[in-house]
This record gives sequence, C-alpha cells and structure tokens, in this order.
Amino acid sequence: MKAYYCKHLYNEMNFDINNIYICCGSSLGPSHEVYNPEKWKSYDDFVKDLLKWRQNISKQAYSGNIPEQCENCIELKKIDISLKDYLKGKFFNKYPIRHIIIKPFRQCEMACIYCLERRITHGKTTLEVSKSDYYEFLPIFKKMIENKIIATEDVEICFQGGSISVWDEFEEVLDLAYKYGVKNFEYLTNAYSFLPKIAEAAKDTNSRIVVSLDCGCRETYKKIKLTDKFDDVVNNIVEYANSNIEVLLKYIVVKDVNDNVEELQKFCDTVSEIRKRHTKGKRDIAMMIDIDYRDILKPDYVMPEEHRELLRYISEWGKENNVSVGMQEHVRKMIDEK
Ligand SMILES: C[S@@+](CC[C@H](N)C(=O)[O-])C[C@H]1O[C@@H](n2cnc3c(N)ncnc32)[C@H](O)[C@@H]1O
Ligand code: SF4
Repeated sequence: MKAYYCKHLYNEMNFDINNIYICCGSSLGPSHEVYNPEKWKSYDDFVKDLLKWRQNISKQAYSGNIPEQCENCIELKKIDISLKDYLKGKFFNKYPIRHIIIKPFRQCEMACIYCLERRITHGKTTLEVSKSDYYEFLPIFKKMIENKIIATEDVEICFQGGSISVWDEFEEVLDLAYKYGVKNFEYLTNAYSFLPKIAEAAKDTNSRIVVSLDCGCRETYKKIKLTDKFDDVVNNIVEYANSNIEVLLKYIVVKDVNDNVEELQKFCDTVSEIRKRHTKGKRDIAMMIDIDYRDILKPDYVMPEEHRELLRYISEWGKENNVSVGMQEHVRKMIDEK
C-alpha cells in the first residue's frame, strides 16, 4: 500500500520570530504560536502544548490527512509501505525531534543590501549583544530537553537569524545542546566576529559555518554589506576552518553589483587563499552560488544569460580546482533552460 511520508513532518521544529513551524524545509508546514505569558501559566505548559500539537498533526498525517500547508509541497512523497508496518506504525512513534532551526531573533551588525530580514529590522544594525525583540528561547529549549522531546542521537541544530554573535542567549543555548549530546551543528553567520564557543563545541562534533561572502575584495564587500569588514571576516573564516569546522562560502549574485566574471573570479581567488591558510585539520571548504531572492522569487523571473554564464563559470572553476560548488536545485536547473 502507499502512505504519505515527509521527513520534515515527523522530526523537526523551526523556531521563527512570530511562529513555530513543524518543518525545517522550504514549505514550513503548519505553525504554532510562540510563547505568550498571558496564555500559558508556565513554559512547561507551553512545551507540553507544543508536543500535543505536533503529535496531533503527525497522527493525522499518518492516517492520510495531510495538513493543507503541506499539500503542494515538493517534499511530500507517497511511499510503499506494507500494511503490517503501517499498522505497527512505522512513523508512529513519539516523534522525537532530530532537526531544529533556531532563529527567534533578527538583530544583526550588518545591513546587507539584499537581506530579506532588513524588512523586519528596518535596516537597523547593532553591535551590542542584546535580547531578542520577540521571545525568550532558552527556557523553551530547557523544557524541551527536560520533557525529552528531542532525540538523543542524530540530532542537528541549525542557528540562523539575525546574527548569533549579538543574540544574548546564543552561548547558553549552544552549551545546553552540547551537554545534551547533540553532535551536529550548523551556523549561518556573517563571521563579523569569531566566536570561541563555536570552536570549542567543534572539537568533538560535526560543525559547519555557512557564510555569505558574496565577493573577493573590500570595495565590493562594502557595497553589499555596508560594512568595511572584508579582511576581518576572511581572517575569522580562516580561524573557524582551522578549528575543525567545515566552511561553506556563499556567493549571492546581486544584480549590477557582483554579477560579472571579474567579481566572481575575485571571490574564487579568496576561496583559494582561505584554503591555503587552512593548515589545521581536514574539514572541507566548499562554495555555493545562489541568486538574489529579490529577483528569483519574482513570478515572471527569467535568468539572464550573463547569470547562467556565472553559474557555468564557477562550476568549471570548482572542477578545475577540486572545490565542491553547491547550488539550489531550481537554480541548477536554470543553467541550461532557454
Ligand atoms: C538572513 S541570513 C542570517 C544569518 C547570518 N546573518 C548570515 O548572514 O548568514 C541567512 C541566509 O540568508 C541568505 N539571504 C538573505 N537574503 C537573501 C537574498 N535576498 N537572496 C539570497 N540569499 C539571501 C544569506 O545569504 C544567509 O546565508
Ligand atoms: S549579515 Fe545576515 S542577517 Fe545580517 S544583514 Fe546580512 S544577511 Fe541579513
């Protein structure tokens, strides 16, 4: 028999600023409201409610009632399952969470011109470590651990944002996760600062930073990030790479700013320089190219030939220099589309 399955629906939790989503994939899925002290007597009540909400959705989905937010999602699959397994409840467990995205804050030191979060922060920047403008995450996380709704193995935690380096709860949340035994961490960071806590946790975990560098020189960096920090950021990336941390360097193609081969080549040269300075450990340094969402998300978007050329150029460069080059699947498909 066939049953619906989506890896995101059963084992994830995504803490955003105004909602908590059941999914860490692209569709987000159904959402739960964030903690509100007027509604819940305690964090314990809140986390129990979160758990009940998840279990209800998973049970419903298991018996074929897919949440409407998931109906058209490309991740949703029908898989073959025997009646015996179905009745035994192959997915019908306590739904321990294995993947958590944490982004209940948006403050940041930078104001990248493409950043979609700037709509939320109104382009305001801060160098001060401060509380989230939305809700406290740490007490929720503590209760999730106490109530054992996070798995004990194969768990991945991904910090997004805003910028973790100016979020006051970051270190304690990371500490707690590390002590609980989480072995896989991903940090989306601007690398404005080097955070020793990340390096400490990386000694015996799989840790990865994802940094949008987007260029290979100070001038272009200033144009995109509105901050004169190119050299510091490159040094911080090298320090992370030398601390047993995998590095993914992103190049977001921004129209009329870095969308030419000369700029892309400077980025490639910077990646080469970082690789040369990566002298300790064997963690990978990889690249990824993406197109500014402000363009690609337009319904009538057609990729210009010059941008296709950039995708081909970086792919070739990666092959020649033995550096892996990632792209989102829908971007890759556009390379050869006419
Ligand atoms: C919003 S940032 C937050 C984490 C961190 N401050 C950083 O810069 O990586 C998360 C990711 O979203 C990406 N992003 C933001 N706006 C984008 C856009 N317009 N197009 C493509 N990627 C974008 C950034 O490149 C970054 O990798
Ligand atoms: S560093 Fe990240 S969160 Fe900050 S403005 Fe840039 S993309 Fe946005």
